[in-house]
Amino acid sequence: MLKKWTNRKEEENNTSEEASLDPQNIPEHVAIIMDGNGRWAKKRGLPRVAGHREGMNVIKKIVKTSNKLGVKTLTLYAFSTENWKRPKPEVDFLMRLPERFLKAELPQLIEENVQVRITGSKEALPGHTRDAVNKAIEDTSGNDGLILNFALNYGSRHEMVEAMKDVYKEIERGRLAIEDVTEDIIGSHLMTGGLKDPDLLIRTSGEIRLSNFMLWQLAYSEFWFTEVLWPDFTEKHFKEAIVVYQKRTRRFGGV
Ligand code: FPP
Repeated sequence: MLKKWTNRKEEENNTSEEASLDPQNIPEHVAIIMDGNGRWAKKRGLPRVAGHREGMNVIKKIVKTSNKLGVKTLTLYAFSTENWKRPKPEVDFLMRLPERFLKAELPQLIEENVQVRITGSKEALPGHTRDAVNKAIEDTSGNDGLILNFALNYGSRHEMVEAMKDVYKEIERGRLAIEDVTEDIIGSHLMTGGLKDPDLLIRTSGEIRLSNFMLWQLAYSEFWFTEVLWPDFTEKHFKEAIVVYQKRTRRFGGV
């Protein structure tokens, strides 16, 4: 089994991404678990936060590329509900990043017709982080181009629990009958609400797991894992992932 997976991986990775990218088959929604910032920094004898800073710079390039290729939604896992367990200085630094990023990039994002969104619980964010993201959401709300969706203070199990509670409240108030609860109803109560499920999930840094990320929404997504650490991730890697995606046959449980 492992051998088969490895062979397939090698075969898929043997691509000249620029040449073979099909503009007619671009994934509409790409989600990325941006992993490996800490290891990137450690390899250079730098503090972990230096990796996060470098990781933030990569986001700008991937947003640009997504826009250029015609990706409709780009979701980036920026901070999980479990990341609060990290040392306070690292958490504080991570909570400053949206502000720093948006301060520098918001005018360009507006110019490029990008819509900023957040998936996650905003209430628990520090005021300065919440203000920065609320401003970006508001200032880009009239745009109708790429949705740049930051998963911030996001955890899939928490999201599902909250969705179940909401549905239960509707049943209790008599607004919904239990036999009318469908996958669409549950899906509409998730924090991703109106967003299409991701077509492609990318995870960097060689870790092969989901880490409580979009467990419901990724049911039929294609997964692409790379050893590349997030701060080293480039436009070339992004296109490589899309070329591999385009070689896959999506059956959604059919034949
Ligand atoms: C995981 O790497 C990365 C994070 C928990 C944070 C990701 C955040 C960014 C890339 C920047 C966010 C920027 C904005 C604008 C929201 P890790 O620290 O777990 O790396 P390691 O596994 O090598 O230790």
